[in-house]
Amino acid sequence: MRPTEIPAIRWEEPPEGPVLVLLDQTRLPAEEVELVCTDASALVEAIRSLAVRGAPLLGIAGAYGVALAAARGFDVPEAARALEGARPTAVNLSVGVRRAESAYQAVLARTGDPTAAAVAALAAARALHQEDAEASARMAAHGLTLLDELLPAGGHRILTHCNTGSLVSGGEGTAFAVALAAHRAGRLRRLWVDETRPLLQGARLTAYEAARSGMPYTLLTDNAAGSLFAAGEVDAVLIGADRIAADGSVANKVGSYPLAVLARYHHVPFIVVAPVTTIDPDTPDGASIEVEQRPGFEVTEIVAPQVAAAGAAGGIPVAPLGTQAYNPAFDVTPPELVTAIVTEEGAVSPVTAESLAGLCARSRRTADPA
Ligand code: MRU
Repeated sequence: MRPTEIPAIRWEEPPEGPVLVLLDQTRLPAEEVELVCTDASALVEAIRSLAVRGAPLLGIAGAYGVALAAARGFDVPEAARALEGARPTAVNLSVGVRRAESAYQAVLARTGDPTAAAVAALAAARALHQEDAEASARMAAHGLTLLDELLPAGGHRILTHCNTGSLVSGGEGTAFAVALAAHRAGRLRRLWVDETRPLLQGARLTAYEAARSGMPYTLLTDNAAGSLFAAGEVDAVLIGADRIAADGSVANKVGSYPLAVLARYHHVPFIVVAPVTTIDPDTPDGASIEVEQRPGFEVTEIVAPQVAAAGAAGGIPVAPLGTQAYNPAFDVTPPELVTAIVTEEGAVSPVTAESLAGLCARSRRTADPA
């Protein structure tokens, strides 16, 4: 069951022309409000402001964005470059954009017909959307199997960070989907939800999804995680990923790396759940991952997310005027701190360049058996 009646993303074709309808995530959990994009530039803005966010959903949105530009007669390569550049870290965004753009270009080259090419771009976006839902279900199954192997006693107490459920996916998400599968199997004792400063994706979105799904969950400030580990209250950490480099380095929401360090110190499995599309063979290592830097006011002020979305300060100051802030949106966890990466093709552990390359090769064979 989706946590909300409004899907995270949907394509509609009213008489005035096709639109992409998003659930505006900056307004959650207070309000479920739709955001209607009539062109790719509105979608670029929605991506930058985090109205639509999370790696798999960014890929799906990017693909639909290309389809929207094509269907409305805009310059498709120009729209594609703008969409790809909207946020730098989640590789899924450019994977989605390029998939729809290639479908468009292939049909255009063959037929010279932009209408037929637009139809192909939309078909590619729809296929990606559907594949993500299927990948999500398979990640949940593989992740639950792994959890049961690592923690045979059951009664899992899982700590998660940021937001990885149906708000970021065509299905039930990545890490959250595994926790949900454990809940449905009667094996989740507690989901510990990091609030995820500064934009509170954990408090606003994961707690919202957990509550809607009837899961036993508890919210904590990010800096309370250490004492939770020390008290022996965490059996596993489950997070998603925005980009996994070829060497297995994992970029995810800032605050993930300290959890990996804590998990290693306390001998707790640190598990990353992500679709194969999040693995980027063209990024060799963690140092090569571009980490998005966000405006300082998100840290120096308490801002309502929709105000932050507008790119404006104007919240309640929590630091002296003029204070400089360090505000990376993501951090990078080295592979040696990752117990396993779970994908729709199965889990890899230990995480090495070789094990990841093997997984990607397996995935390519599944996609293209010839
Ligand atoms: O800045 P956001 O909210 O887009 O960051 C999202 C995350 O870091 C998620 O954990 C990541 O995309 C994995 S989503 C399945």
